[in-house]
Amino acid sequence: MSHSEIRKAVIPAAGLGTRFLPATKASPKEMLPLVDKPLIQYVVEEAVASGIQDIIVITGRGKRAIEDHFDRSFELEENLKGSGKAQVLSQIRRISNLANFCYVRQSEALGLGHAVLCAQHLIGDEPFAVILGDEIIDAPTPALAQLIHVFKKRKGAVLGVQAVPRSEVSRYGIIAPRRLAPGLHRVEDLVEKPAPADAPSHYAVIGRYVLPPAIFPILRKTQPGKNGEIQLTDALRQLAKQSPMFAYEVQGQRHDAGDKLGFLIATVEFALKNPSLGPPFSDYLKRLRLNTGGPRA
Ligand code: UTP
Repeated sequence: MSHSEIRKAVIPAAGLGTRFLPATKASPKEMLPLVDKPLIQYVVEEAVASGIQDIIVITGRGKRAIEDHFDRSFELEENLKGSGKAQVLSQIRRISNLANFCYVRQSEALGLGHAVLCAQHLIGDEPFAVILGDEIIDAPTPALAQLIHVFKKRKGAVLGVQAVPRSEVSRYGIIAPRRLAPGLHRVEDLVEKPAPADAPSHYAVIGRYVLPPAIFPILRKTQPGKNGEIQLTDALRQLAKQSPMFAYEVQGQRHDAGDKLGFLIATVEFALKNPSLGPPFSDYLKRLRLNTGGPRA
């Protein structure tokens, strides 16, 4: 690989969000608010805090709100200026200055692998990151920065993984690992959504990747797999055969915000951590427990 800096990140956001219907019928899943910010803003902020300058969002029909969110909003800004809400105004302005944004339409939801392939012409011949907005990772060192750190030392593809209960392996891509150091594995193979009995480990791929540009020709040749979609996992299997691939156990609290229960849990956790909402929300939860006869905090 010629470059060692990771400057660009792809955020695939063209999925249909079927696990979150009917909320996602006409609104993008990525715009669901976790307390007061849409999910996609959390992953954009993670990317920026990890040193990313260019963000390529893969969008589809019905996803215009994402573009509007990261654009200037002159009418709103004028209004906030006029009403003296300086703090909100600077928050709103900051969003459009976070990074350089580019949008590519995936005209049909042909799978995560296909979505990544849609960014090829904007990535060119350099390694890049992929971040999925479904997975929100609350970590003192941003999850992507942890992977980039490994990439700089190892010079190969790096997948973010976390250990999951054996009973849940069939919800994830699972790696066949060879342990190299604490928290670091060489990826020998990958299996998409295996039955617990067939899983080669309990390390699940969690929506954070650093990939070489060599993934693109592989994706181009990857045939549709499960559900007729071009699977990123299938292309990663191929890549692992031809060049070193690593998995790093990401440190941080992960939330599957693309799932209704995961989203509710993330909402409660983030609300409790919020400096102004946390204390009154915590009081409310305590009162709720008392009223419903649950155990006291
Ligand atoms: P998922 O399969 O988890 O997302 O894809 P989904 O299809 O939106 O949601 P469900 O499972 O139906 O509820 C993982 C990520 O890949 C993107 C999704 O937007 C999500 O961020 N994706 C998936 C695409 O961009 N294009 C696709 O064709 C498929």
